[in-house]
Amino acid sequence: MAKKTVADIDVKGKKVLMRCDFNVPQDAKGNITSDDRIVKALPTIKNILERGGALILMSHLGRTEGQRDEKFTLAPVAKRLSEMLGKKVIFAGDCIGADVKAKAKALKSGDCMLLENLRFHKEETIKDKAAKEDVQLRKAKDDFAKQLADLADIYVDDAFGTAHRDNASMYTVPQAMKGKPRVIGFLVEKELKFLGDTISNPEKPFVAILGGAKVSDKIGVIENLIGKVDRIIIGGAMAYTFLKSRGKAIGNSLCEDDFMDKALQLLDHAADANCQVVLPPDHAVVRKLEPNAEHRIAVGDIDMGWQAVDIGPMAAKIYAKNITDAKTIIWNGPMGVFEMPPFDKGTKAIALAVAEATDKGARSVIGGGDSASAIEKLGLQDRISHISTGGGASLELLEGKKFKAIEILDDK
Ligand code: 3PG
Repeated sequence: MAKKTVADIDVKGKKVLMRCDFNVPQDAKGNITSDDRIVKALPTIKNILERGGALILMSHLGRTEGQRDEKFTLAPVAKRLSEMLGKKVIFAGDCIGADVKAKAKALKSGDCMLLENLRFHKEETIKDKAAKEDVQLRKAKDDFAKQLADLADIYVDDAFGTAHRDNASMYTVPQAMKGKPRVIGFLVEKELKFLGDTISNPEKPFVAILGGAKVSDKIGVIENLIGKVDRIIIGGAMAYTFLKSRGKAIGNSLCEDDFMDKALQLLDHAADANCQVVLPPDHAVVRKLEPNAEHRIAVGDIDMGWQAVDIGPMAAKIYAKNITDAKTIIWNGPMGVFEMPPFDKGTKAIALAVAEATDKGARSVIGGGDSASAIEKLGLQDRISHISTGGGASLELLEGKKFKAIEILDDK
C-alpha cells in the first residue's frame, strides 16, 4: 500500500523530526565532494519550513563505530544546507541530551536544526536482531530512540539511502512515535516510484546493466530480474566469474570461484526464461593495476599474467547497440575500474548509450554508488530519468525486498 507523505499532513506549528541521508562523500580535508544527497532532500525540507513546521533533521555520516569522531561531524552539512536554504541552520553539538532537548523546545515555526551525527552513539546501529536477543541492548536502543522521538510531534523518513538499515533512527524512533504522524518525504516517495514502478511496470524492451566487482553482491538482483527483463548486460569484474563458469580463460582477472556454479545456474535460468545475458567479448587487460598501467585489448580468452580492468571496445559497441532500442533501462555498477582512466572507457560508453536512449524516450534509472558517480562525472545527469541516492538500498529494491523501516510508516 502507498505510504502517506509530508503532503498528506499538517505541519504548521509542529516539531518535525526528519531522518535524512546526509552521508555525503568528503575529501581528506573534510570538504563535501558531492552535495547531491543534500540537494535531493531540499524539496521536503523547504516544503515543511514553508508550511510553518519547525524542522529537526538527523542523519549519520560514515561508519564511526559508535564513537565521536570529528572527521565525521555533520557541521559541514549544516553549513552547506544553510547556504542552500539562504537561512540559518542551527547545528546541535549532539543528537540527544539536555542541550538538544532545550534547543528543540525553543524552535519556532520555520526554524531548521540539524543534529550531530547519529552514529556518534553506538545505540544507533545496534541491530534489531541483537536487540531482540539481548535485554541490555534492547534497552539501550529503546532509550536512545525515545530521546529522539520525544523531540517532535511528527516523524518523516526521507533517507532513502539508509532505507535498508534497521538503525534506531530509521526503525526504533518511528516505533516509539506510534500514534503521531509518521510519513515519508518526497525523495523516498520518488525513489520508491522510480525503482519500484520501473520493475513492476516496464515498457519493453527492458534492459538491465549490471557491473561491479562481485557476482555474490548481485545474485539476488539477477534472480529477481530474470523473467522481467529482456536483456542483462554484464560488465565489471563480475563478468569474469560468468566467463570462467562457461569455460573461458580469464588470466588473472578477479573471479569468485565459490560462485561459479551459481553463475552457471543463473545463465541457464536466464536462457530458460528467454532472457539474453550479454557478456564482454573483449577486454582491456593489464599486468598490474596502477594508474597509466601499460594495457592491451584481449579478444576472447585472457592470458595468464594479465587481468581485465575494463570491457573492450568491441564489447562497448555491442553493449551500446543492446541499449539503444531499450524503452526501460536500469543500471547498477561500473563496467571497469572507472576511477582509474583510461579504464573508464567502457563505463563512459555505457553512460552515453543510456543517455542517448533516454533522449529517445526510454525511462532510465541509475542505482546509486559508482554508476551514479560515473554519470555525474560525465555531466550526463540531466539526460537520465532518475539517479537514485541509494547504493545498497536501490540494490535491495532491485532484489524485490521490502524495507521494514518504511513498512511501519502510515499508509494512505
Ligand atoms: C549509503 O551511503 O549507502 C548509506 O548512507 C548507508 O550507509 P551505511 O552502508 O554505512 O549504512
